[in-house]
Amino acid sequence: QAASIPADHVPAMERRKLMHLLLFGALGLPAAGMLLPYSDFFPLKGGGIVAKDEVGNSIIASEWLKTHVPGEKTLILGLKGDPAYLMVENNRTLATYGINAICTHLGCIVPWNTVEKKFICPCHGSQYNNQGTIIKGPATLSLELANVDIEEDKVVFAPWTETDFRTGDAPWWS
Ligand code: FES
Repeated sequence: QAASIPADHVPAMERRKLMHLLLFGALGLPAAGMLLPYSDFFPLKGGGIVAKDEVGNSIIASEWLKTHVPGEKTLILGLKGDPAYLMVENNRTLATYGINAICTHLGCIVPWNTVEKKFICPCHGSQYNNQGTIIKGPATLSLELANVDIEEDKVVFAPWTETDFRTGDAPWWS
């Protein structure tokens, strides 16, 4: 219940820092970085980046699809170092868009609730549907989108600058 959470309870930045630590701490930089292609760590053309799994490995699409089932939504490291969801469609392909997991209210990481089939923010209860569209406040904006492409079997997240297909509007985040 939103009412039971103190007004000064804003763990967003702490959570974000923790996520960075968990993900980047596992990379073993700089040694590992030296051995990997430039594109694995630095923006590609169009501002894209190779998505990383929870231990910092580049996500290989064909491998991912062997171990993740249709409907699965998995937190990975996406654009800007933000946690984001990589999703498997019913036809066993990767969704062509990813959803940023940062709540648009005050920035908590929003988990997917498999029972309710919604993203439900643990901080103040905002809810988003399976595409990240806002359906219940206090947040007022939908979760950010990113383009998901596969380049040489690597999963690439790139900024979403086109119309938000959920609202028909320009994206609020760019
Ligand atoms: Fe307040 Fe998500 S941070 S509802």
